[in-house]
Amino acid sequence: MSTALVVALGSDHAGFNLKHALVEHLRTRLGDAAVLDLGPPSAARVDYPDFAGKVADAITAGAAQLGVLICGTGIGISIAANKRPGIRAALCHDVTTARMARAHNDAQIVCLGARVVGEQVATDLVDAFLAEAFEGGRHAGRVAKIHALEGA
Ligand code: RB5
Repeated sequence: MSTALVVALGSDHAGFNLKHALVEHLRTRLGDAAVLDLGPPSAARVDYPDFAGKVADAITAGAAQLGVLICGTGIGISIAANKRPGIRAALCHDVTTARMARAHNDAQIVCLGARVVGEQVATDLVDAFLAEAFEGGRHAGRVAKIHALEGA
């Protein structure tokens, strides 16, 4: 189990260029050891559920604490990541949704649509996501109820 913050990133082909830009940004900001690029390694066509699984599993295993997933809209890759028990993957479009995903929903993964948000908005919202802490309190019970639905 890592103690220092590690961020895992993954995408499909539509999200590849934005992933590359965010990997570079986060390596500069946090250092190489804090960034886990789980692919794909090129813009060749791939299936987003494969990379959603890799990032979700890295978080479940403790190899990373937070993640970033990118596809064309962010929709498919967020739906896929949320199939993993215990994972909360939030599709965000701006700094406000990114902050609230951490503060109220304790999301571990922020999902982005590379065909929806530009690189600067994506960079700002990922920085906001990483900076925000879960508020706990009344939100903790709600998050527990989300996961109670997994076994219902
Ligand atoms: C790929 O064309 C596209 O369907 C995918 O990136 C994503 O937007 C799915 O939700």
